[in-house]
Amino acid sequence: MSKTGTLKFDFNNMMSSMVGSEGFSEADIKELQPVAESAFNYFKNNRGKEMMGWADLPYNQDEIVDEINVTAAEIRKKYDNFVVLGIGGSALGPIAAFQALCHLRHNELPKKQRGVKFYVEDNIDPERMLALLDVIDVKKTMFNVITKSGATSETMAQYLIICDILKKRLGDKYAKNIIATTSKEKGNLIKLAKKEGYKTFYIPDGVGGRFSQLCPVGLLPAAVLGIDIKAMLEGARIMDEKCSSSDPYSNPALMAALLSYAAYKKGKNISVMMPYADSLKYIADWYAQLWGESLGKAVDLDGKTVNYGQTPVKALGVTDQHSQVQLYTEGPFDKIITIIGVEKFRKDLMIPKGAEEFPDVNFLCGHTMGELINTERVATEYALTRSKHLNNTIMLSEVNENTFGQLLMFFMLETAYCGAMLNIDTFNQPGVEEGKNATYALFNRKGYEKKKEELENAPKKNDKYII
Ligand code: PA5
Repeated sequence: MSKTGTLKFDFNNMMSSMVGSEGFSEADIKELQPVAESAFNYFKNNRGKEMMGWADLPYNQDEIVDEINVTAAEIRKKYDNFVVLGIGGSALGPIAAFQALCHLRHNELPKKQRGVKFYVEDNIDPERMLALLDVIDVKKTMFNVITKSGATSETMAQYLIICDILKKRLGDKYAKNIIATTSKEKGNLIKLAKKEGYKTFYIPDGVGGRFSQLCPVGLLPAAVLGIDIKAMLEGARIMDEKCSSSDPYSNPALMAALLSYAAYKKGKNISVMMPYADSLKYIADWYAQLWGESLGKAVDLDGKTVNYGQTPVKALGVTDQHSQVQLYTEGPFDKIITIIGVEKFRKDLMIPKGAEEFPDVNFLCGHTMGELINTERVATEYALTRSKHLNNTIMLSEVNENTFGQLLMFFMLETAYCGAMLNIDTFNQPGVEEGKNATYALFNRKGYEKKKEELENAPKKNDKYII
């Protein structure tokens, strides 16, 4: 597979020349240019600092990449399975990379072709955990516990279960089957890792969960899968360099942010992410967290209550043409649809001839499936545009490590710019913390007595409303 490629952002169908008054004119963009410029400068001046440490990851991971690749090769040699225990930003990146860059039936391939089987356990549904334990031999499994805070209940619960099972099966040697990826100083996982002697990779400071795919959180699982992580980082660098101008016409992520911001201010409260490639299906999940958790905020940086946020929706082309696209073409003008297209599929399949007597079927014959999916993508773009619904397209020349890295960086930059335009803290997640704290209180964790009291005094449910 080639390790180069391009990403192009096509915003034609966001413009009034295509969708009339729903869209934007060049004058509208010009009017917003100062907002974009100030967001660009804010990001430029703060990148690498505090919670913007992620912006430097494409440039500062070289040393760790070598260590990761050595560890990954050992894991492939010694183990049959690699299981990630993590949630949110500690899971969605590894899932997206696995889907994008590995065989789409990876775990079902013969061992020689696939290396280790790969699982990401990002829920605490007991049936799911037990189902995993039914199909893996824990002795031959490497568990990668990923948690930046080292305290997330879901991940720590999974860790405790696995640890207990491993200890029973492997005795003293159990620690060899666990790798911890966590903060260097903060949290409990690092303390446990030191005490028990787990191999550990660190999540650098200034890298929040949803911005962490380009550090060991995402790089180790990817390397274990044989993905070229250097090429992924190179792709991120290419996009970062492509986004180094304060002029939105020369900076695709800045233009995407400006248009999202403008659309949001015009009442477009929903952002649909619709890749036309199964390999990119879970990029939409990763994006949903990035966009939702970063921009969904109650207060702005001046303390003003704003309750901002555009609701991210995941869709898959062409599958969801047969479920959601009716709504997108005829429903309310409350959304932007971002389509991700792929020029060249890594493999393609001819639709064979042989239906000459059925013209309504025969028109398909002699074309490839790749041609068909791309034609349907163009047709959907046309239908959305004709019905005056805002849409834009991100075109990848093909899906590979390089373009995947470009795509990640594009979305992270777009999110950072958009958050700066909205004057919010893009990198915190107080709403998530609230749920975490309520769980601690309900489970009687020490230090959460006040929260417990608050929960006990909250309005009680009325049985009348449960029928
Ligand atoms: O983006 C984030 O910071 C969150 O979604 C976290 O990734 C998620 O809550 C898991 O946290 P942690 O990695 O601390 O276990």
